[in-house]
Amino acid sequence: MTPVLDIRDLGVSFGGLKAVDQVSFQAQRHRITTVIGPNGAGKSTLFNLISGALRPHRGQVLIDGVDMTGAAPERTKAAGLSRSFQITSLFSELTVAENLRLAAQVLEPVGRTLLPISRSTRALAKTGQMLDRFQLAHKRDDLVGNLSHGDQRRLEIAVCLASEPKILLLDEPTQGMSHGDTAATAELVRGLTDDVTVLLIEHDIGLVMSLSDHVVVMHQGRKLAEGSPDVVRADPAVQAAYFGHA
Ligand SMILES: Nc1ncnc2c1ncn2[C@@H]1O[C@H](COP(=O)(O)OP(=O)(O)OP(=O)(O)O)[C@@H](O)[C@H]1O
Ligand SMILES: [Mg+2]
Repeated sequence: MTPVLDIRDLGVSFGGLKAVDQVSFQAQRHRITTVIGPNGAGKSTLFNLISGALRPHRGQVLIDGVDMTGAAPERTKAAGLSRSFQITSLFSELTVAENLRLAAQVLEPVGRTLLPISRSTRALAKTGQMLDRFQLAHKRDDLVGNLSHGDQRRLEIAVCLASEPKILLLDEPTQGMSHGDTAATAELVRGLTDDVTVLLIEHDIGLVMSLSDHVVVMHQGRKLAEGSPDVVRADPAVQAAYFGHA
């Protein structure tokens, strides 16, 4: 079976620094693949290479078997890839529902995109679905800037899903969250695999172990190890490079 995401020998340098260096792995459909590694290991840069925000100097990115290497973000998005950022990227001066509806607008057939908002039936339906699913219905008319940090991060995942992607890239979705919000977000991410394939960057090692189907460990730009959570955790090289610091 073709993996939904196939990363082959991917690399990029910033000056003399090999931020991502010969990284290869695959993400299996409807599974959670988590990328871990110390600060500066190259995780976010890897996501930038996959989403098209950065063009790799070497290697390939295949989405559903189609070569998308170096494709611009609009194209990877059209191919079914959606990503959240390490820093929240919502429109803070718009409401919760407006943020969702903007993201869902891509579901409207091209000929209908200039019609009044009230006639964007698919986008509106999707907005309602997302509000319910992410328990944000009672906050639909709140300005996003007024939401708690936890609600903003949750909304960001909802916004990513609103365009009905097949691959979701989540860069530290629990960053800065309270213990309770982290647990709720973990539960939410677990439920996403019915719809999408998840590629996750996460620092909370407890969460990584309980959530991931597959773990890719990065260190100084390179892939240090990969495998099931248990296998990776038991790997002496991983212990030294990563858990040693924890
Ligand atoms: N645009 C850039 N220009 C120059 N150097 C960069 C750039 N982006 C990232 N780097 C460097 O590349 C390396 C990898 O950074 P990256 O942000 O991918 O790490 P990370 O694994 O996401 O770390 P963190 O866990 O702190 O988010 C770091 O040394 C970083 O300073
Ligand atoms: Mg990062």
